This record gives sequence, C-alpha cells and structure tokens, in this order.
Amino acid sequence: MDLEDLIALAEAEQRDRAEIEVRVCTAAGCLSSGSRPVVSALERALADRGLTPRVRLREVGCMRLCCEGPLVAMDVLETVSSPEPSLYGKVTAGQASVLVDVIDNKQATTEGLQPIDSNGPFFSRQRSVVLEHCGLVEPERIESSIALGAYRSLHRALHDLNPAEVVELVTRSGLRGRGGAGYPTGLKWATVAKMPPGQKYVVCNADEGDPGAFMDRSILESDPHRVLEGMAIAAHAIGADQGYIYVRGEYPIAISRLDTAIRQSKRLGLLGSAIFDSTFNFRVDLRIGAGAFVCGEETALIHSIEGLRGTPRPRPPYPAESGLWGHPTLINNVETYANIPVILREGADWFTQIGTEHSKGTKVFALAGKIRRAGIVEVPMGVPLRDIVDQIGGGPPEGSTVKAVQTGGPSGGCIPAELLDTPVDYESLKALGSIMGSGGMVVMDQDDDMVGVARYFMKFCMDESCGKCVPCRAGTVQMYRLLDRIECGDATNDDLVLLEELCDLVQHASLCGLGQSAPNPVLSTLRFFRHEYESRFVEPTGPRSSSVSSEAR
Ligand SMILES: Cc1cc2nc3c(=O)[nH]c(=O)nc-3n(C[C@H](O)[C@H](O)[C@H](O)COP(=O)(O)O)c2cc1C
Ligand code: SF4
Ligand code: FES
Repeated sequence: MDLEDLIALAEAEQRDRAEIEVRVCTAAGCLSSGSRPVVSALERALADRGLTPRVRLREVGCMRLCCEGPLVAMDVLETVSSPEPSLYGKVTAGQASVLVDVIDNKQATTEGLQPIDSNGPFFSRQRSVVLEHCGLVEPERIESSIALGAYRSLHRALHDLNPAEVVELVTRSGLRGRGGAGYPTGLKWATVAKMPPGQKYVVCNADEGDPGAFMDRSILESDPHRVLEGMAIAAHAIGADQGYIYVRGEYPIAISRLDTAIRQSKRLGLLGSAIFDSTFNFRVDLRIGAGAFVCGEETALIHSIEGLRGTPRPRPPYPAESGLWGHPTLINNVETYANIPVILREGADWFTQIGTEHSKGTKVFALAGKIRRAGIVEVPMGVPLRDIVDQIGGGPPEGSTVKAVQTGGPSGGCIPAELLDTPVDYESLKALGSIMGSGGMVVMDQDDDMVGVARYFMKFCMDESCGKCVPCRAGTVQMYRLLDRIECGDATNDDLVLLEELCDLVQHASLCGLGQSAPNPVLSTLRFFRHEYESRFVEPTGPRSSSVSSEAR
C-alpha cells in the first residue's frame, strides 16, 4: 500500500456513497437501549420497499447524545432535494417503517418519531477534534475510516518527517496526557526516544476503571483506527516495533472492534511489516484486563501484560526507561493517541490555538448524573464548567438544582455549584482539590449527600486496593469505617479529626496513585460541604479536638 492506493481507496468509498445514508448508532449505550433490532427492522423495511441501493444503512459509533439512544441519523446528498437530513432519538424497531416512509417521501409527517435538533446547544457548543469522526465512520469497515483521512498522518510521519521531528511536533502542540495526570506527551515521547536503540514498546492504556467514565470505550468502539494510527505514529517516533492495547474485559464491543480493526489494517499493510513501503514495522496486539482498577496504573498494567499479578511498583525507574520486560516503554491513554493524527494533519500551531495557556486542545468528558442531556461531550480546555452543565447538558431535570459536579472519579473531587464558572483545565480543577482525571463528570443535585458520595468512592478504593502497601490497604478500610460511622450519625468531632489525619497519611505514604488520591473525594467534600459532616455528629460540634480518643483509634 502506498499513498496513491490509500487515496484511491478513499475515493472509491466516497463514490460509493448512496443518495441517502441512514446511520444507526451501534456503540454500547445505544446497543443496550435496543439499536440492534432497529438495524434489523430498517434493513428489512428498506429491502421490502426496494430502496437499496439508493438508501444505505451504516452501523456507526457513538453520536454523543447517548441518553436519547438508540439514535438514527439520515444524511442526504446535496443533489437530492428531499427528505431533509435529520436525527431521531429513542427509535424503536416498530418505527422502522415510519422512518422508511419519511425516506421514501411517502409521509411528510414524522409522527411518533422524536426528532433531535442537531444544531442545538448540545452539539453546537462542542468542539470536535478527537471525536470528529465518531458517529460518522463505520468502526468495522476500514474503508470508511480511510475515506475520512485515516492513516494519512501516518504516511506523512513516515515519509515527510523523521522521528525527532514527530517528537518535536507533539512537544510543540502542548498535548498533555489524557489519562489523568496531564503529563506532557512530547516530553514522555522524547524520554523514550532518547533511550539507546533496541527493543522498545508502545502501550495504549484502555483500562478505564473509574466509575462514571466511558469516554475511552466510546472512542474505541466508534473510531478504532484513529487510536491505532496514533500508536503507529508514536512507535515511529520512539523506535518501537511492537504495541499493546490493554483493554478491560468488560468492554467486549471495543475489544471486538479493535480486533477487527487490527486485522483489517494488517491486511492493507497499514500495520505489520514495511508499512507504506518504508522500513517501519509495527505490530499491535490486544491484552485483556480483568477489571481491576489498579491495573490502569502504568506499572501495574505492565506487570499484568507480562503475565504477573497486576500490582504497582515504586517509580523510578519510570516505564519510559524500564517498562515491559525491562525495555523502554511508552504508555499513553486512548484519548492521547486519538489526538495524534489530527496534530500531524493540522499542525502544532493549530492545536495550540485551542484551549488555555497550559492546557491545550480539547477534552472529552462522559457527562452523567442529574442532567437533562447525558452523553459524550468534547469541549475546548478552559470552557467554564457551567457551559458544560447548563448549555451542553441542558441543566438539571425539572425540580432539581445542581449542588456539585464530580470530576476525576475516585481520585477527584466535588466542585460546588457556586464555583461552576471555573474553567475546565488541569490547573483550575487541581486548585479546587479535584482533578481533570480521565473525563468522568457526574452532576449531583440537592438530594445527593456529600458524605455518602465520599463514602461511596472510599469503598471503591478500599475494594480496589491491591493491598501491597499498608497505608492504602489499612488506611482505606479505616477511612471507610469512619465515613460509615459519620454517615450513620454515630460519630463525633474526634472521628472527623482522625479521618483528616488518615487522609494526610494515606495521601503521603501510599505507594501508587490509587492510595495517594483515595482521600481526594473526602478532602474536597470536607472543603466545600463540611457542614454535612458536622451536622451528623452525635454530640454538638465543639472546638476541633487536637487529640484523638483511644476508642476511635
Ligand atoms: C489507580 C490508577 C488507575 C489508572 N487508570 C488509568 C486508566 O484507566 N487509563 C489511563 O489512561 N490511565 C490510567 N491511570 C494513569 C496511568 O498510570 C498513566 O499515567 C497513563 O496511562 C499515562 O497516559 P497519558 O500520559 O496519556 O495520560 C491510572 C492511574 C492510577 C494510579
Ligand atoms: S497504594 Fe494501594 S493500590 Fe497502590 S500499591 Fe499501595 S496498596 Fe496497592
Ligand atoms: S452510544 Fe449511541 S449516542 Fe452514544
């Protein structure tokens, strides 16, 4: 395969477009609300009316407004005067014939169908960079990705840029890791690239264990070739010939689509040996995790791929120096890799124009909770949280008022409603005791109890602690018990003092990020909602005690 072949494939696919294309979302959210029977019913109805091939059905990935699923979109070629392009939500198999009537111009009325305004604020207030092709490409057909430009950036990296230039481009873009910590991606690539030549690895972290987070799953299910292309560009830049995608076993659709994508790109010579007739070889294999949250931590993930028990180890050495089987290993998150092709296509300067001074580009969030429009959203870094909640999410449902927004899952915190004007970037969220995290965003209302929220996340950390170090293994249990007592109204101010002492200890003495960040939900709810803790004490709140009762200890 060379560039001409790639372009020819793209052109053939574009020529093959039907007059009317019906896209049905078959990502996990819509499949769980019944999009598979909708596909079958539409197929039958179109065939019965003899509308194929004028009308083509495409199974695509997430169209973002997951709460309205199953979603069906209708695209109409400019040369065709009617029907109007449209988007429908909560489509049932029983409505297939009504939809086909609309397509066939037999019925102008869309009775029973729920039209969605695709120009409304949910879509218009977003900025599509990473998700630009999600919901458009068919994740199980590589030709459909190639038609929208997939693998062109890889070709550019291999033929127009040397590895050092690719690293320099990514560094200049200011891209920071989307897996949680926000480490500068170019710096990480440069560290691995500088290691002596020899075996090196590229790993994609698709473990996504935070409760409430489903962005990476959505990207993998909707546009897997984008992630493969990002990984291949990284491999070229750092000098690796082998990649692994570590994906959690609970994501069967993502696994199956990745598997298909890898096979299809190998078949076309876009992965494997002598890619694009160059000397570059790159093979990608899947490794399936078993759902332990700690296996998302990079050193635990490495152990897990090596076939060992997934527990973290002290760093340094960092994986960039000594990772898989002791070799330099680049580990990035799914969304980080998904940013790479567009950075190569549009350039670093273009990318730096999006976002804030220190947080460049966009961020994908999984918006959920007490919100009218829940789903996957992508916004430029720096937009106020309020825009996401009120404009994109449509605010809370009737009768609810927003109390807080939780970001960063078990490692993050709760931002109170009065601070919703905070810009969404790494520094601003950290200053409030939360973190950007990988992108889970849960809106909470007046009925959500902040002590209960802290207790929920502490239970999660306690259950997911690997037990290797005492501060986390024992500390999370003690913190959970204290939170439980406080929630039940069975605690005193001394318990709260002990809880705060434990937060400090576990934060500073734990081996890995799981323990180090486990106190965050407690600390942030204490910072903004301390009265919810204190109002539960069995005795009136007195001056804060500095010593802790022996019983509590
Ligand atoms: C307990 C724990 C779980 C983590 N889970 C994930 C995860 O699911 N996905 C991810 O990309 N990073 C996760 N991370 C962060 C990774 O260790 C690592 O920093 C990240 O994959 C690096 O990629 P990035 O630089 O592109 O963000 C986790 C960290 C900790 C401490
Ligand atoms: S902090 Fe927790 S999860 Fe991390 S190594 Fe220690 S016990 Fe294991
Ligand atoms: S899963 Fe269908 S719109 Fe998100």
